Amino acid sequence: MRDTDTHTIAPVLILLGPPGAGKGTQARMLEEKFGLVQLSTGDLLRAAVASGTEAGKQAKAVMEAGELVSDDIVIAILRDRLAEPDCARGVILDGFPRTTVQAQALDTLLAETGQKIDAAISLDVDDAAMVTRISGRYTCGTCGEGYHDTFKSPAIEGQCDKCKGTDFQRRADDNAETVAARLEAYHAQTAPLIDFYAKQSALMRVNAMGPIDDIAAKLGAIVKAATR
Ligand code: AP5
Repeated sequence: MRDTDTHTIAPVLILLGPPGAGKGTQARMLEEKFGLVQLSTGDLLRAAVASGTEAGKQAKAVMEAGELVSDDIVIAILRDRLAEPDCARGVILDGFPRTTVQAQALDTLLAETGQKIDAAISLDVDDAAMVTRISGRYTCGTCGEGYHDTFKSPAIEGQCDKCKGTDFQRRADDNAETVAARLEAYHAQTAPLIDFYAKQSALMRVNAMGPIDDIAAKLGAIVKAATR
């Protein structure tokens, strides 16, 4: 039995945090442990760019500049993904919402199906650590598993632990200039959501400066309590 099986309405969890806070890393671990679906708007947008959809064409230059894609585009992509059958298991939102308009749209979307947010978890890291984390990041090109030059290498060099793939990639927006813009966008447009969710009594704060497994243990305890 999965840890979420006693929850009657599908759980909805949000991971908030600046670029490099570890949202993707932790969301994938929670997905495995709790059987929830990781919904990363960054991944959905990168897929739209790669497949050349109209939304992808509009998003490409904005993402390369480290700015936020328009609320209309992101909300439409998220709404379509949330409607897919696997999301009935419950979701972990990674990188959404990022503006107050997106947070309000999410509340409205969830209310339509009688759902609500179980917890908005803020991963707190300092800006310097974030730059180090992003500049060393790479992922498996086959399964998307994340790695880091210093903090998380594959057990066998050059081979993904998860799928044994040997093709690794670095993101186009993981360069010093764009990281500064992404951080600025976070502080100006996304950090106010910490208050937004505090007012809904949904906010949980986690110091995300320790080792990956220690943070995963703290998040696991929060998710278990929130989805009971
Ligand atoms: P997105 O893909 O969401 O990027 P981001 O928010 O900048 O976050 P990252 O993916 O860079 O970081 P993360 O927190 O997931 O860290 P990770 O786990 O990889 O968005 C990209 C762009 O898309 C945006 O700039 C915007 O243009 C657009 N976009 C997306 N969503 C949008 C929205 N809702 N609205 C508008 N625009 C949107 O970890 C980083 C590295 O650190 C990894 O190498 C990892 O191994 C390592 N690491 C993780 N945890 C630790 C730890 N505890 N200790 C040491 N290393 C660690």
